[in-house]
Amino acid sequence: MGNGFHVRKGVALASLVAALAAIVVIIALSVRIAQEKSRNAGTLPSTAEPTAFIPKEPWDHYRLPDTITPISYNVTFWPRLEPDDNDLYLFTGNCTVVFKCTRETDLILIHSIELNFTLLDGFHARLTGLNGPAPSLKKTWLEDRTEYLVVQLDGPLQVNSSYELFTEFAGELSLIQQGFYRSVYTEDGVEKVIAATQMQPTHARKAFPCFDEPALKAVFHVTLIHPQNTTALSNSITSGHVNITVDGQDLIRTSFGPTVIMSTYLLAFVVCDYGHIRTEPGRSVLIRVWASKTAIDKGKGNYALEKAPPILAFYEKYYNISYPLEKSDQIAIPGFGHGAMENWGLITYTEPALLQGLHESFYEEKEVVVAMVSHELAHMWFGNLVTLRWWNDLWLNEGFASYVSNLGSDHAEPTWELNDFIAPEEILHVMDEDASCFSHPLSVKEEEARTPHEIEFLFDSITYKKGAAVLRMLSHFVTEAVLTKGLQTYLKEFQYKNTVPKDLWKHLQMAVDEAGISLPRPVEEIMNRWVLQMGFPLITIDTRTGNVTQKHYLSSLECVMDTPSEFNYSWFVPITWMKNGKEEPKYWLLTKEDTNTDMALGSSDWLVANINLTSFFRVNYDAENWERIISKLNSRHQDIPLINRAQIIDDAFNLADLGMVNMTLALRITSYLDKEVEYMPWGRADFHLKNFIDILHSRGIYGPLQAYLRNKVTPLFQHFRELTLNWTKSPARHSDMYNQMTVIKLACKLEVNDCTQLTTTWFREWMNNSTNKIRPSLKKEVYCSAVAAGGVEEWDFIWSMYKKNITSEVGDLFYALSCTRQPWLINRYLQHCLDQDKVYGIHHALIWMSHNPVGQPLLWDFVRANWRSLIENDRCYFLKDILISAATDSLSTEFQYKQLLQLKEELKEHLCSGDETFEEALKTVEANMKWIERYKKEVHDWLISETSEK
Ligand SMILES: *[C@@H]1O[C@H](CO)[C@@H](O)[C@H](O)[C@H]1NC(C)=O
Ligand SMILES: *[C@@H]1O[C@H](CO)[C@@H](O)[C@H](O)[C@H]1NC(C)=O
Ligand SMILES: *[C@@H]1O[C@H](CO)[C@@H](O)[C@H](O)[C@H]1NC(C)=O
Ligand SMILES: *[C@@H]1O[C@H](CO)[C@@H](O)[C@H](O)[C@H]1NC(C)=O
Ligand SMILES: *[C@@H]1O[C@H](CO)[C@@H](O)[C@H](O)[C@H]1NC(C)=O
Repeated sequence: MGNGFHVRKGVALASLVAALAAIVVIIALSVRIAQEKSRNAGTLPSTAEPTAFIPKEPWDHYRLPDTITPISYNVTFWPRLEPDDNDLYLFTGNCTVVFKCTRETDLILIHSIELNFTLLDGFHARLTGLNGPAPSLKKTWLEDRTEYLVVQLDGPLQVNSSYELFTEFAGELSLIQQGFYRSVYTEDGVEKVIAATQMQPTHARKAFPCFDEPALKAVFHVTLIHPQNTTALSNSITSGHVNITVDGQDLIRTSFGPTVIMSTYLLAFVVCDYGHIRTEPGRSVLIRVWASKTAIDKGKGNYALEKAPPILAFYEKYYNISYPLEKSDQIAIPGFGHGAMENWGLITYTEPALLQGLHESFYEEKEVVVAMVSHELAHMWFGNLVTLRWWNDLWLNEGFASYVSNLGSDHAEPTWELNDFIAPEEILHVMDEDASCFSHPLSVKEEEARTPHEIEFLFDSITYKKGAAVLRMLSHFVTEAVLTKGLQTYLKEFQYKNTVPKDLWKHLQMAVDEAGISLPRPVEEIMNRWVLQMGFPLITIDTRTGNVTQKHYLSSLECVMDTPSEFNYSWFVPITWMKNGKEEPKYWLLTKEDTNTDMALGSSDWLVANINLTSFFRVNYDAENWERIISKLNSRHQDIPLINRAQIIDDAFNLADLGMVNMTLALRITSYLDKEVEYMPWGRADFHLKNFIDILHSRGIYGPLQAYLRNKVTPLFQHFRELTLNWTKSPARHSDMYNQMTVIKLACKLEVNDCTQLTTTWFREWMNNSTNKIRPSLKKEVYCSAVAAGGVEEWDFIWSMYKKNITSEVGDLFYALSCTRQPWLINRYLQHCLDQDKVYGIHHALIWMSHNPVGQPLLWDFVRANWRSLIENDRCYFLKDILISAATDSLSTEFQYKQLLQLKEELKEHLCSGDETFEEALKTVEANMKWIERYKKEVHDWLISETSEK
């Protein structure tokens, strides 16, 4: 799945838009869903495991026994796109699964949940023997807790004999996007329903009874019965259409050819009234893009259709295996909440991930498309053809797709140089998460990923981004050519089968040996330390002695590490490094402490480790080397590679937060930024300085901070003015496009005069002639800045746009509303937010408001005054979001701390899920107080000296 986690921060704008669009759709339908949920309440799987439950019977276990192996499924579905008399959208279906008995048993467990069965001779299923008679059924029932249909037999199944199990069932096409579901959109004023599927990870069992584990691969024959004005699609190519009449309705029965052998989670089918475009006939693989007829007519699918063929061709070459199916469909699902899903042959995408907007020149939209298509197509081999045996190794599947998709994107759009900055940025980002004491190893233990809930939990950014990062590291120390070689033989050996990571390490080792590459340890031993224990090392290099040490890097001093690691939190670390700008031979740190005399430097030498962030660690140096790095940055920063300039800023701020270097050291590193024009270092600086701005904006120290930062950002602002010919052209380089976004955001936030003037002018043009020429990537910041600088007229304009537009822009508009500096507008907005009919996604509004210096105190008052309605209005998570993420983020005084305590007292009886919410909020405020106490003077003095001497 490309579920948005892997989308890097730069694209976050687009994914935020997507997420918000989804939120709007979902919340608009929330009443409907709530009704459906309450109706289904009895059958919904409970996520909380009763703690004292001790499994006794086979059906008490979440994993299937090894008694049965499925061979093929014949499934027929008939989705009803119109509601029945009870206003329900149903589907009916039947399934014949052929399986072989591999170990004697008198019990069949098959996954099923949320389905109603037709009783056949009093049982939920019918069993037939293919090599002789089958035992008769004794008892059948549904075991909701473990999501099984249980079939008890009168006698045993014979080893090596095959049987057929037939079931007939009905389910609901609900709006919850799991199993077989429906999605709704409006075209030409008509509401249309499409039926589609999402099986990963454990939802196939919601569509039909199946052995729903990734290792139980089988062949699927799918048949769909659907209205005559609709199209049916599935993984395979259509093998036939027949007109039929059922209960007086004229319908079509579409059958699809057998799939290749594959896992249940990759099955997909869709019934829709869509248009499509396709590649020219005569190619070996047919590629189509499907979307609403309107979207197709407007050409929104053209870009995806242009890029998918070269990306697919790139992977065929990269993996050295032809794409095994006849076709690859890419289909847009309105309001799809999963980003995209790699169903083999029928990939589903949320609309912004497949369709490009109206402006040909907006390549930020294209980037999302290229990234998503690359990610999903990469899975066709890694994941689909060769599948991990169990979900605990999901990281290898998703990490690999994320790693390789950067190569695919780079191939599709070489001039964007995506691979040069996507990967490093994601690495720095995921390090923040992996540094938490609550992180987890890439591979968790198999028994820790049993329940659907535990499995769902693994789809996080550690899995996607750290997974990609350690594979990128691997590719650097074995070389990309060797990685590719090992990968190719691995895929060949295990195609249509399942693996564990050990299998991949074995093939890589073979490739390493063959290429004669010398590694200090076998591939598997090196990788196990990165995969089986959480976190990563902080490498400290003392350039006076050449002493090198490693230590588990944790982002909090209070973090008590009580999760033991069999490797004792020690890693085998490949360290690339340069001395005075020249790359030195790679050095492996294999112990906790070592000495590399080459790293002992003379008094004018400087050293930078982890060139281009090829390894996954943070680095600290002795004070002298830091000083020499700072003077290098100020004299000729280009001598330090671009990615390392970003890394140096990021490491310094992180180490300063932990007290390992002075905060002034981190700030002094930023002093060279008036000469920096590249995106990566500015992106990291922006990320860290944001905290300073947020926490200091209402204090006396903000004046000097603002003056200092203005001095740094003004030259960049002027650089971009020239680069864009006075803001009339887009920058040519892709990374400059991102940097333009950063500079406008920072400059306007710091109230650089020309910036506000610029955004206000753009905004006025839009207000006056109603065509909006502001680039998508700049909209968010431009709107925000114009609203902040403006008054009620600007605010009302955005509000009217927001009311009128349920479009992809809604996120930007919504964000802009929270930027006003007028107290009465802020209060009016907060009041609007209380009213569910007026504003969807209230918690987003409140979180954004907390970054508004004028809005923040009003927000806090509002939360204290209105907590009753806030709780009533919605569920517990609002409280959590509002209190922890929003209201408390920049609270930092003793007085505010006491107010929070008092609110906790008042709210005591209303808290829904444990009391953690307040404890966390109090901790945040306490941490803020400490931060201020610790750094206020140091930072203040430094800022004063820095701004007054210039
Ligand atoms: C499943 O469908 C295929 C194709 O229609 C057919 O050849 C096969 O016999 C069917 N298998 C069963 C068990 O019904
Ligand atoms: C499954 O359902 C379809 C449609 O109702 C029907 O045509 C078919 O005969 C059923 N299959 C079996 C084996 O009963
Ligand atoms: C399943 O059965 C229950 C109980 O009879 C009923 O309320 C529900 O609507 C049924 N669901 C479907 C999809 O038929
Ligand atoms: C099915 O019916 C439609 C119209 O109802 C007709 O156009 C089409 O040719 C028919 N298809 C077959 C295979 O009979
Ligand atoms: C198909 O046609 C029927 C009857 O004309 C109409 O009610 C329905 O909305 C159409 N369905 C789709 C998906 O266009």
